Amino acid sequence: MQEFSEFESLLCRPSSEKNLEFQRHGRLKHIIAASQLTPPLLDKLCRSAELIRRMNRHPDGNRRLRGLLAHKRAMLYFTQPSTRTFLSFMAACQILGIACNEVRDPKTSSEVKRESKMDSIRMFSSYFDVIIMRSQIADFAECCAYLMNDLERQERRSVPIINAGAGSDEHPTQALLDMYTIIRTFDFDENSDSRPSRLNALRQTYPGLTPGPSHKTYAFCGDIGRGRTVRSLATVLSQYEGVKLVFVSPQHEVLVMDDELRQRLKASGAEVHEFNSLDAELGGSSLLGQIDCLYMTRIQREHNSSDTEREISEIDLEPFRLSVERVGKLKQYTPIMHPFPRDCVVGEIPTEIDSDPRAMYFRQARNGMWARAALLVHLFDEADSLYFAYSDVNRSRV
Ligand code: NCD
Repeated sequence: MQEFSEFESLLCRPSSEKNLEFQRHGRLKHIIAASQLTPPLLDKLCRSAELIRRMNRHPDGNRRLRGLLAHKRAMLYFTQPSTRTFLSFMAACQILGIACNEVRDPKTSSEVKRESKMDSIRMFSSYFDVIIMRSQIADFAECCAYLMNDLERQERRSVPIINAGAGSDEHPTQALLDMYTIIRTFDFDENSDSRPSRLNALRQTYPGLTPGPSHKTYAFCGDIGRGRTVRSLATVLSQYEGVKLVFVSPQHEVLVMDDELRQRLKASGAEVHEFNSLDAELGGSSLLGQIDCLYMTRIQREHNSSDTEREISEIDLEPFRLSVERVGKLKQYTPIMHPFPRDCVVGEIPTEIDSDPRAMYFRQARNGMWARAALLVHLFDEADSLYFAYSDVNRSRV
């Protein structure tokens, strides 16, 4: 049986090469990295998410959805804390009729009897049809995907691996739900039922506001260095045309963007700017007034060493916190996003912002359920059955 270390030599290859191993005939086989989420694939997944969301409103749609993957079982292997990702994957499975089981505390598994992590994963693949996993070890999910590929080559049982958060590195399914939220927000097609009326009306005030994720300024604020949601979403956004990416973080070495991400984003053609306050100016005028989408994050204290904890606790975080005044400077349509949890002590988004129509974070979390259900449908190659069920249900409702 292979061990983790045996796959290490595969890790440092370019993502274009690695991503080929995470797909089969152009369809996702595993989801490990955000760079797998190309604009055409995102369009497909968001369309499916939209159908699932609409079908789920009605009992007959609900029933059809529950039949789609009722023959599948999922393992949720979450050895790092999680509320939203865990529960939204579980809810997504329930929507599709997938039975779930979970291991959240490795102390309750045979890892305490010195079973290797790779043996545990292979055991899960014996009983379940997909492994959805979160780990503090950045490369663990990727190594598990290589293990599954090896097993497939040996004509043994192999199942899809879904990376639900890997250390401070990647969180591709969060990028998926963030993109679904952005795509829904900037969908101005009145027929698409994506609740665009408020924003559509605002297009008269902002004639430059175009549909879709392209040609927009996205600002990320908070812990840029260790926020895996930031890394993953920025990677996806950098594939769209005319995108400006602005990063606002305290000037501490662990909190600013790392050079690898900076170089990668610039190489993809995105315009990248970095600031140390939300009150900064970009091109001579207020940054806040130029942002089309604001993505707030918390300081990831759990990664701090005791020295870093002391240094960070001395930093004034006020320039990285929203206030009614700062929100007042944003465009009237700018969605305020946050992957959550927010830090209720630091208060990067005070609760008084929650009633602002631009506060998108609770909707964003709910979108995770639809987007993750769409991902499962795609992984199991049931998108055609979904479209068929959708038109069937719609026909019978007319
Ligand atoms: C994020 C995570 O776990 O990376 N949360 C999430 O999945 N919704 C963000 C965070 O923990 O700050």
